[in-house]
Amino acid sequence: MCLGNICRSPTAEGVMQHLVEAADLTQHIELDSAGTGAYHVGERPDRRSAAAAQRRGIELRGRARQFEVSDFDAFDHVVAMDQANFVDLTRLCRSAADRAKLSLLRDHDPESPKGSDVPDPYYGGAGGFDEVLDICEAGCRHLLARLRQDHGW
Ligand code: 4NP
Repeated sequence: MCLGNICRSPTAEGVMQHLVEAADLTQHIELDSAGTGAYHVGERPDRRSAAAAQRRGIELRGRARQFEVSDFDAFDHVVAMDQANFVDLTRLCRSAADRAKLSLLRDHDPESPKGSDVPDPYYGGAGGFDEVLDICEAGCRHLLARLRQDHGW
């Protein structure tokens, strides 16, 4: 989850999908991304994000949508890209069970300080998109390792 669902969370989704396919776990893991905001609903991922991902052989699929409370029913894990998104999602929780599904992507990476944000690349330079990819790759690798361990895959 991010704000616009055109930069960071589509990147994290694409990176995770790539890892899941490489690990042959597509029968176990279903992924999607969404934004807490509605400003970009229906748009394709930002072309700078898509180009940076393409250079690493990762395709960013889908169109932006806004997070819905029913996503807490549809998914076991709801992973926020930054603290602001995390707080927004916390406000949408209906129960302790919903709350237990929330995490920050970088908190899955033991090398990131606790509570770190994936920086929003939207208004920054081109290097920000590669930085987002590096951060997503680290977070997603650790998240996938944890899922494999938890489920015995
Ligand atoms: P994202 O990036 O949350 O990573 O998709 C953003 C995209 C657009 C805006 C903010 C963040 N915006 O304000 O338009």
